[in-house]
Amino acid sequence: MQVNEILLNRNVAPEVFEMRVYCPDVAKKIKPGQFIIIRVIEEGERIPLSVGDYDPEKGTLDLLIREIGVTTKRLVQMDVGSVIPDIVGPLGRPTEILEIKHLMCVGGGVGIAPVNVVAKAYRAQGTHITTIFGARSSNLLAWKDRVLDVSDETIITTDDGSEGIKGVVTVALEEEITSGRPIDLVFIAGPAIMMKFVAEVTKKYNVSSIASLNPIMVDGTGMCGGCRVTVGGVTKFACVDGPDFDGNAVDFDELLARQRTYIVDEKEALERAYASGEILTPEKHKCKLEEQCREGAEAWK
Ligand SMILES: Cc1cc2nc3c(=O)[nH]c(=O)nc-3n(C[C@H](O)[C@H](O)[C@H](O)COP(=O)(O)OP(=O)(O)OC[C@H]3O[C@@H](n4cnc5c(N)ncnc54)[C@H](O)[C@@H]3O)c2cc1C
Ligand code: FES
Repeated sequence: MQVNEILLNRNVAPEVFEMRVYCPDVAKKIKPGQFIIIRVIEEGERIPLSVGDYDPEKGTLDLLIREIGVTTKRLVQMDVGSVIPDIVGPLGRPTEILEIKHLMCVGGGVGIAPVNVVAKAYRAQGTHITTIFGARSSNLLAWKDRVLDVSDETIITTDDGSEGIKGVVTVALEEEITSGRPIDLVFIAGPAIMMKFVAEVTKKYNVSSIASLNPIMVDGTGMCGGCRVTVGGVTKFACVDGPDFDGNAVDFDELLARQRTYIVDEKEALERAYASGEILTPEKHKCKLEEQCREGAEAWK
């Protein structure tokens, strides 16, 4: 086995892939809530990814990846057995695991990766875990099996009502908070817009929250300022001060605006990559995947 070799790669929901990578140095050191920065080709950009699970003995990292632009599409189109040129980590501060009785996790999309490891760490010390897991539709609930495993209680919400409660995560969260059962902390991870509305609820009811933020990152060392966020009126760099911050104090509108900084360039880069054939279009990739998924399904057992 080679360092940074992709051991497994399969499509688990529309545009979402899970990947297991052999990366023993990182797997030995990483703590819940930390992330890695990877480069998929030598001359390519570096992108941050949460580590959704890890096995220090086997030296593996599990990733949950949403293919959104050039780099994530390049990554998910890499074959099992190929080697990722660069993986740097662990980066960021680990999530602080507090001695509390009841943790409420609220997750959506690939945010369920940090939820998984953080919930696992809390569960190991006996904290009761309730997870609210939301998606637009039931087929987008990637890693539902892991969420069910790691949580004492799971509340699923879907916008279209295809599974669980019909509606968004904030509806379920508000119900839980107003039920009167004490919640010591809410851990939030998912799309920035979801985190913004969840934090509005925790703030309204004065419940403590921690949000795992996902701003644009470049170097991951606190030097470039790309990941600047404002928390309680103070500038922080998510790569070195985070990615976890007090959710009730984050300026989510600024985070949302900064995430869109390069949107035109990113769209053009993707069109160029499709046109050159460097990245397969979703239709062509789907054919290749059908075979890959069959092989992957066995290996993940
Ligand atoms: C700490 C952290 C953990 C993350 N964990 C995961 C994860 O587990 N799984 C996952 O799928 N995604 C994760 N992301 C987001 C992921 O890094 C971006 O989706 C990825 O960089 C997009 O790159 P791209 O070239 O595919 O898309 P692009 O076309 O470059 O960008 C698409 C959108 O992704 C965002 N983005 C672009 N570049 C970056 C960057 N360097 N850093 C952060 N966001 C960027 C922007 O909002 C942009 O509009 C995480 C981000 C952070 C900061
Ligand atoms: S990514 Fe450059 S300062 Fe954080």
